[in-house]
Amino acid sequence: MDKKLTVKVPAHVAIIMDGNGRWAKKRGLPRTMGHRKGVESVREAVRAAGDVGISYLTLFAFSSENWTRPESEVNDLMGLLKAFIRRDLAELHGDNVRIRIIGARDNLRGDILPLLLEAEETTRNNTGLTLVIAFNYGSRDEIARAARKLALKVQSGVIRAEDIDAVALDRELDTFGIPDPDLLIRTSGEERLSNFLLWQSAYTELLFVPEFWPDFSRDTFYAALASYAGRERRFGNVSDIAAVSG
Ligand code: FPP
Repeated sequence: MDKKLTVKVPAHVAIIMDGNGRWAKKRGLPRTMGHRKGVESVREAVRAAGDVGISYLTLFAFSSENWTRPESEVNDLMGLLKAFIRRDLAELHGDNVRIRIIGARDNLRGDILPLLLEAEETTRNNTGLTLVIAFNYGSRDEIARAARKLALKVQSGVIRAEDIDAVALDRELDTFGIPDPDLLIRTSGEERLSNFLLWQSAYTELLFVPEFWPDFSRDTFYAALASYAGRERRFGNVSDIAAVSG
């Protein structure tokens, strides 16, 4: 536990890890070097989250739109994710980290799906930090798949159309059982959600930081947590002061 951090810690932090390519370009390096350095930031973020008692850390590793990148870059990202699981799974398991994967699982090629399933299976009973890896993930696709599952349930008579509400749809999402993020951080100065956790972020605090993902350090993370701690969350309600003064 980091003794210096005395702020209110969010239960769930989600991160859009952006800026690997620009980090590399700034140094005259190939984009792939940015992704490589980005994996080190992933390790640092996982340790930092565990150390301050965050319960869920969700990382946007590969979006359903990322397939349109040049084939060599897609292969490189796949390779890095596979290497991360192969090399770090034992350590993560030893650190009591539970891994969950969100995103579409059909049409995944090669050995990526078995590896992701192995990571989930090996760590399923762990009780420490839950590391949620968003892979082949797109929020609209997730919501559409959930709607399809509900439609099939109506079709087969398991539920009635009028039973469908926000709670029922939430139950069919990949994130079922995971609380909504309290804080969503995007690096690299871009200020967009880019089809990430759209449903789940209805009341999430958004924080856009200028650092490129490969430069994201423990200090950057804790500064983000300090900024979160200073915000007032009202979930559509009024604040205490506003309520009293009418
Ligand atoms: C965005 O940078 C980053 C990604 C598309 C992938 C993030 C993946 C990793 C950090 C490595 C693998 C993940 C894990 C969990 C081990 P960008 O390429 O869009 O950067 P740019 O906007 O500067 O071009």
